[in-house]
Amino acid sequence: MSKPKLEALLHLFIFSWVFLTCSSTPITYPPHTNLLFSSDVVSILSFKSKVDLDNTLLYALNQRFDYCQWRDVKCAQGRVARYTLQNSGLRGVFPANSLSRIDQLRVLSLHNNSLSGPIPDLSSLYNLKSLFLDRNNFSGAFPPSTLFLHRITTLDLSLTTV
Ligand SMILES: *[C@@H]1O[C@H](CO)[C@@H](O)[C@H](O)[C@H]1NC(C)=O
Ligand SMILES: *[C@@H]1O[C@H](CO)[C@@H](O)[C@H](O)[C@H]1NC(C)=O
Repeated sequence: MSKPKLEALLHLFIFSWVFLTCSSTPITYPPHTNLLFSSDVVSILSFKSKVDLDNTLLYALNQRFDYCQWRDVKCAQGRVARYTLQNSGLRGVFPANSLSRIDQLRVLSLHNNSLSGPIPDLSSLYNLKSLFLDRNNFSGAFPPSTLFLHRITTLDLSLTTV
């Protein structure tokens, strides 16, 4: 094979490889995979670090941990689909850019905690069907971001603290 032809082939090969690597559909991880840096875990732990001030959420972070087995978490195809933290004694300000990155979330419940401050923008949770924020100490206006949640069927924002 002539040199230019070989070079062209090589370029084609590299191009195809880069193209395939970058364009392949998002990988869905099976449960029981050791994924220390899954974005869902990073989001959950960042949320926990700001609001679980009494350390009531006991998440095992040993070498073989599987966050899909955590008490408050239910996964679908390795992504967090339900995160239910009702009655967990959480307090502090709901940090923006924490849970809002778990884009496969269907159900989020923070019912009956002592979270305060404004409710952050949750419009990136476009798969959300149920959102329970009631019985907290949130302040501020009704969050307009929730209007962008087109799949939502249950929304409880009652700001009662009783
Ligand atoms: C709210 O959560 C607290 C724990 O933080 C619990 O003791 C209390 O019973 C819960 N209240 C209701 C009405 O479920
Ligand atoms: C939340 O509101 C209740 C009732 O007003 C109050 O007793 C409690 O101290 C507040 N908690 C926080 C963390 O602000």
